[in-house]
Amino acid sequence: MIVTINLPRLLNTLSMVLDFTTIGLNHHHNRVAYISSAMGAMMDLSPQERHDLYCAASIHDMGATSFHEKAALGSFQPRETDTHCQAGYQLLKGIGHFENIAQIILHHHDHWEHQEERSALTRLSDIIHLADRLEILLTGDYILHQRRRALDQLSGWFGTMFRPELKEVLSELAVKESFWLDLASPYVEDLSLGMMSPEINDSALQYKDLKKLFMIFAWIIDRKCRFTMHHSRLVASSSAHLASLAGFSPLDIAQIEVAGLLHDLGKLSIPESILEKPGALTAAEYDVIKRHPYHTYHILRRLPGHLQLAEWAAFHHERPNGAGYPFRIGGSALPLGSRIIAVADIFSALIEDRPYRTGMNRGDIESILSQSAREKALDGDLVDQLLSHYDLFASLQEFVDILRY
Ligand SMILES: [Fe+2]
Ligand SMILES: [Fe+2]
Ligand SMILES: [Fe+2]
Repeated sequence: MIVTINLPRLLNTLSMVLDFTTIGLNHHHNRVAYISSAMGAMMDLSPQERHDLYCAASIHDMGATSFHEKAALGSFQPRETDTHCQAGYQLLKGIGHFENIAQIILHHHDHWEHQEERSALTRLSDIIHLADRLEILLTGDYILHQRRRALDQLSGWFGTMFRPELKEVLSELAVKESFWLDLASPYVEDLSLGMMSPEINDSALQYKDLKKLFMIFAWIIDRKCRFTMHHSRLVASSSAHLASLAGFSPLDIAQIEVAGLLHDLGKLSIPESILEKPGALTAAEYDVIKRHPYHTYHILRRLPGHLQLAEWAAFHHERPNGAGYPFRIGGSALPLGSRIIAVADIFSALIEDRPYRTGMNRGDIESILSQSAREKALDGDLVDQLLSHYDLFASLQEFVDILRY
């Protein structure tokens, strides 16, 4: 199945989750995409190169997702850069449409003077490298007055760390105050996307390749916590089977699978210390956890025409009795797709090992799900379906373990 998708917009949207830090969203990927695209627009790049440059810049640090890994890349000369370049490359290589993007990401910290071979693609990596190092020199939201200091710091590195020809490109760009104001503006996501010319935005992708991209993001989400390594994939798979039993169309089953993969997208905003805490959470820590479906909703909502996907994914902690969070949606206002993900989420959490216990046995799972259905904390019909096909759902765990991502 071929799907037409605006890949720059999709990556621009997904990149937001890569930019959560301990103090909130830092817009690093979108700022780097903006700087890279602005430089690219002044160079003799083909439309395809501009597309690849934007897409690669939007997710260039996807191989570094813990707050600790991201913070380490914030110094001008990070001690180690190879791990996240390799990780990003390994995740994307082999996926149709992402071959160039994977290569560009692999080399985005290469010093120009040490490059073993130079190609049209490494030129794009060089642009991202400069954009990336410029971005980390800028702090906070008031950066216009920081431009002289940042440019001075970069200027000695052209011909060694940076590709020489980019010096002139950057100086020309830097004259405009608006360039700096754009970077610090709350509109940087839209501004960076606006750098793409509309005629090259839509890409025809194989659905299986798009699904691999979502599986990569599921892997990134689950990697935030070493106790939930396969959770998103198990939720996706259980949701797809429940949707099939509930009579969903093949297209809606495909969509609920994506919603399952991305339901915990907002978890990337939560510090690992809370996600991995072995004991009970304090009330304040639980409040931090409650932010994650809120972020899932607002990030996925940015994809035009995908409100249903956002609702199915993000309402997974809402409850039919209205006692869920964070939107307190219940009763008939709670979509069937969201109810499916909620049942799949709880079932998966019960059957998986957790830091403080191993996966529960069938009897305990049955009694917890049945009790939740009686309290209308879960949809009773869906719980009945799951329990009457229990062996099928229990076998999904082994199946997701052997998938590559
Ligand atoms: Fe990087
Ligand atoms: Fe970066
Ligand atoms: Fe969740």
